[in-house]
Amino acid sequence: MTAIDRPILEVQGLRKSFGAVEVLKGIDFRLRERELAFIIGPSGSGKSTFLRCCNRLEEPSSGAIRVDGTDILAHGVDINAVRRRIGMVFQSFNLYPHMTALGNVTLALRLASRKSKAEATDIGQAALARVGLAEKAHAYPGELSGGQQQRVAIARALALEPKIVLFDEPTSALDPELVGSVLQVMRDLREAGMTMLVVSHELQFARAAADRVVFMEDGVIVEQGPPAQIFGDPQQARTRAFVARIDGHR
Ligand SMILES: Nc1ncnc2c1ncn2[C@@H]1O[C@H](COP(=O)(O)OP(=O)(O)OP(=O)(O)O)[C@@H](O)[C@H]1O
Ligand SMILES: [Mg+2]
Repeated sequence: MTAIDRPILEVQGLRKSFGAVEVLKGIDFRLRERELAFIIGPSGSGKSTFLRCCNRLEEPSSGAIRVDGTDILAHGVDINAVRRRIGMVFQSFNLYPHMTALGNVTLALRLASRKSKAEATDIGQAALARVGLAEKAHAYPGELSGGQQQRVAIARALALEPKIVLFDEPTSALDPELVGSVLQVMRDLREAGMTMLVVSHELQFARAAADRVVFMEDGVIVEQGPPAQIFGDPQQARTRAFVARIDGHR
C-alpha cells in the first residue's frame, strides 16, 4: 500500500438510532490520505449525524470507525486524544465571544495539548496566518465578519494538527460575498495535502475541488464517485432525481 492509499478514515457498518428511529442504516466508507470528499443529500438524510459519529459527538449504535488506524469506538480509547486528531468545523462557528481570535485558537492547545503559553501563541499565530488572519489575532469575534470568524474556527482546528478535518456546512451561515474567502482557505488546505470530508451545498466548489462526491439519502450511501459522474452521469435513479432537483434550483 502506497502512502497515498493509506486510509485516514475507515467506517464499516455504521448504524445510529435516535430512540426507535434509525438515521444511519449501515454506512461503509473510506477516505484516503489527502482526499477531499463531499457529501451531498437531502435534508434529514443523516449527513451531519455521520460526521458527528466520526469524532463521537454522537455515539454510534453499532459499526466500526478507525481514524488513522485507531479504533475510536474501542473501550478505554482516549476520546480527547482522538478528537485532537479530527478537526471539526461547524456552520455556527462556535467561537467564545469573550476571547480574541488568538485566544480561541490557543485554548485547546493550552488545555488539551498542555502547550506553554509561548508555544501555544506561536502555533496559534501560524494557524491564523494560514487562513489569512495574522493581522486579526487580537480581534474579538464580534469585531470580525462571518467569513473571518469561520476562518478563525478553521485555524482553531488546524492548530491541533489534525489528521482530517470534517466540515459541516461551513459556509451556510455566511452572506454570499463572504463565502469565497472560506472556500479559498479550503482550497489552500487541499493543496497542502489535508484530508477533508465536507458536507456542503457549494456544488460548484465540489465540482472543481472534490476528489469524490458521496450521495446520501435516508441513512445510506446511495452512490459515490468523481464529481463528473455524480453530477454529469449518475448511475442510480435516486442520485439522478436529487441532482436534477438541485440543478433546477440554480
Ligand atoms: N439528537 C437527535 N435526536 C433525535 N433525532 C435526531 C437527532 N439528531 C438528528 N436527528 C434526526 O436524524 C435525522 C438525520 O439528521 P441529520 O442532522 O444527520 O441530517 P442532515 O442530512 O444533516 O440534514 P440537513 O441537510 O438538514 O442538515 C433527522 O431525521 C433528524 O431529525
Ligand atoms: Mg446537517
